Amino acid sequence: MKTLEPTTDIVDIMDVIEQLCGIQVDNRKLYLLEHRFGELMREASYSSYAELARCARDDRGLQQQIVERITTRETLFFRDGSPFQALQHKLLPEIIDARSTTRFPRRLRLWSAACSSGQEPYSLAIMIRELLPDVDRWDIQILASDISSTAIAQAKQGVYSEHEISRGLSPAQLHRYFRKEGSQWRVQDKLRSMIRFEERNFLQPFNTVGLFDIVFCRNLAIYFSDCNRRDLFSRIADQLVDDGLLFIGAQEYHADMSERFSMEQHCRATVYRPKKRIPQNRGLG
Ligand SMILES: C[S@@+](CC[C@H](N)C(=O)[O-])C[C@H]1O[C@@H](n2cnc3c(N)ncnc32)[C@H](O)[C@@H]1O
Repeated sequence: MKTLEPTTDIVDIMDVIEQLCGIQVDNRKLYLLEHRFGELMREASYSSYAELARCARDDRGLQQQIVERITTRETLFFRDGSPFQALQHKLLPEIIDARSTTRFPRRLRLWSAACSSGQEPYSLAIMIRELLPDVDRWDIQILASDISSTAIAQAKQGVYSEHEISRGLSPAQLHRYFRKEGSQWRVQDKLRSMIRFEERNFLQPFNTVGLFDIVFCRNLAIYFSDCNRRDLFSRIADQLVDDGLLFIGAQEYHADMSERFSMEQHCRATVYRPKKRIPQNRGLG
């Protein structure tokens, strides 16, 4: 693929994009800018990317439009399969066993970070319902976050087209957890009630988000700079309980994960556990 040198005009909009959401536009994919922003530029008659960047600096609405256009929201139910198999066959039964003797028995907290239009958190909810026959006696909380308001609106609504529903769900799961509405499918309340959806920018601190047993943060950090990615995973490590688990995308490999996580393989999935922090030696005075 041909690599273009970004002009200063393009560098300005690339800077704005990275400051807004952390996404670095690859030099080999500069054609994406025309694809994602061409229509907006023509509609609002911006003469250049530099002008678009200038106007975006203090226009919240325009910033939101830029985020909506630059984010790649590709997702599907039970994406990559192996993380769900590892959870179902090995890791969740272990966590469930461990939780039956803790201070908060029967409580599980999961986070679908960068959840896009909701297929990932609904897959987690389906898997938990299928694994726990007495699920209603558990306190299950799934948090689903994304920067895109369009994605969160669809996720909250839980309405999917035939095409979306055909990607990853078995016919049995479809009929057990969705109902047909015209040409679309709506998720049933028993799944939706397990999930809380929120708009969240992962560049910002995770104040008040709480601690999780399991975090899925897949196919987001691949778009970030090394520095933003290291910071993101370090902050995620802080939000995991001691025996918590992090899943990243199947195509993702980040050499710098080992600073805060140790790596395990289960059912062909790679799983990350937070390393225990060594307390700072304050000296003996
Ligand atoms: C490719 S999708 C991944 C969806 C799902 N995790 C999966 O793997 O199928 C990436 C998502 O990251 C979201 N995203 C991008 N930048 C973000 C940021 N700074 N904070 C939160 N979400 C962000 C996008 O809106 C998009 O929905």
